[in-house]
Amino acid sequence: MDRLRIAGGRTLEGSVRISGAKNAALPCLAAGLLTAGELRLDNVPDVWDVGTLVRLLGDLGGRCEQLGQHRWALTTPEITNHEAPWELVRKMRASVLVLGPLLARCGRARVSLPGGCAIGARPIDRHLDGFASMGAEIRLEHGYVEARCERLRGAEITFDDVTVTGTENLMMAACLAEGTTVLHNAALEPEVVDLGELLIAMGAKIEGLGERTITIEGQEALGGTEHRVIPDRIEAGTFLIAVAITGGKVTLEEVEPAHLDAVLSALREVGLGIEIGERWIRVGNGRPLRAKGVVTEPYPGFPTDLQAQYMVLMTQAGGSSKISETIFEQRFMHVPELSRMGAAIQLAGNLATIEGPTPLTGAEVTASDLRASASLVLAGLAARGETIVHRIYHLDRGYERIEEKLATLGARIERVG
Ligand code: EPZ
Repeated sequence: MDRLRIAGGRTLEGSVRISGAKNAALPCLAAGLLTAGELRLDNVPDVWDVGTLVRLLGDLGGRCEQLGQHRWALTTPEITNHEAPWELVRKMRASVLVLGPLLARCGRARVSLPGGCAIGARPIDRHLDGFASMGAEIRLEHGYVEARCERLRGAEITFDDVTVTGTENLMMAACLAEGTTVLHNAALEPEVVDLGELLIAMGAKIEGLGERTITIEGQEALGGTEHRVIPDRIEAGTFLIAVAITGGKVTLEEVEPAHLDAVLSALREVGLGIEIGERWIRVGNGRPLRAKGVVTEPYPGFPTDLQAQYMVLMTQAGGSSKISETIFEQRFMHVPELSRMGAAIQLAGNLATIEGPTPLTGAEVTASDLRASASLVLAGLAARGETIVHRIYHLDRGYERIEEKLATLGARIERVG
């Protein structure tokens, strides 16, 4: 099984191109099920999760053609199968994003319940409550959601708490529902807005994207279109933090700075020099690093998907900092591995207290989930000596050849079989 071998202590220099956003590409691909027309998507990241979803769409009747490394054409003349099997859903929970399009397009869906994952229980009750209020009959049996309806009806839906894929799933379903749907307390994430803009280009009637209330007027049918997926703000944040930890000067290209406000303001307070321009960010010279606590929140707050990476930075900053994880109840799986590398981190419920700076030493460590694995790579870049990161299949799910990108910036990192 592949591992990463990292020799720490090198500063990063140069420029790196940020890939398209995994968490925008997945719902945009699922939206292909809503139309018989052709959908052409560009800037789709070359990561495992995209491959898993393309396989699932193929099983459901989709014709997915790869036109280039980051370019796909999708046509679904007809839904020939309405089941998303456990084998695929357990690999990638975002497979639940086919539930809305299947129900809307053919009035039937059988989707494996995703079950829990390393970072939390992650139920989909808010998705299912929303479909039920749109008139779908929902039954849970044998580990699957069985959903049926004649035609979905528009409804007024209020999410108790914000849910990203819940907003996306119901927004897609509402595009073909009878009447108008209003989503209250909707997610504001740029990935949700990107999906909404794609749906509008397909002919959907949507107002309020990027606001807490989204209104969708259902249409008889949607058409094909072309769409460029937004840059990956989490990959960008991971590279910004890598430079903060190792020192050096790096330019991120093909990035949307506006999607990173909370991250950039935290990194400035830590002491980094940051310049931004149109679709680029230049970062460097952040010495000494100052401790600064963060609280993870739904967008536009500090993203939970950068919490683990930011924690590594705080192990190298002067002083004590607190990180409060408010989105997922179990997202500190990286802490024991970082402690094995010498980090000083105390946990109390969803609060981590970090003392720094503490020198890290290289070790054999094991990744538990996508973002935890990124944090172990960053710790390896900072550590004295060699680090071996195991189970990097987690990393490949959401980062496009991260070791090659880091190596072009001067890191000593390689994939070993
Ligand atoms: C999306 O997951 C992202 N995944 C996650 O990124 C990200 O961490 C998360 O949003 C938060 O930003 C994709 O976009 C594919 P939620 P999602 O529904 O939609 C609870 C990564 O690393 N909840 O906003 O599944 C849930 O358990 C991944 O790229 C319910 O209780 O997250 C969580 O505590 C990891 N019932 C909270 O709400 C529901 O029906 C927020 O979850 C739905 C959610």
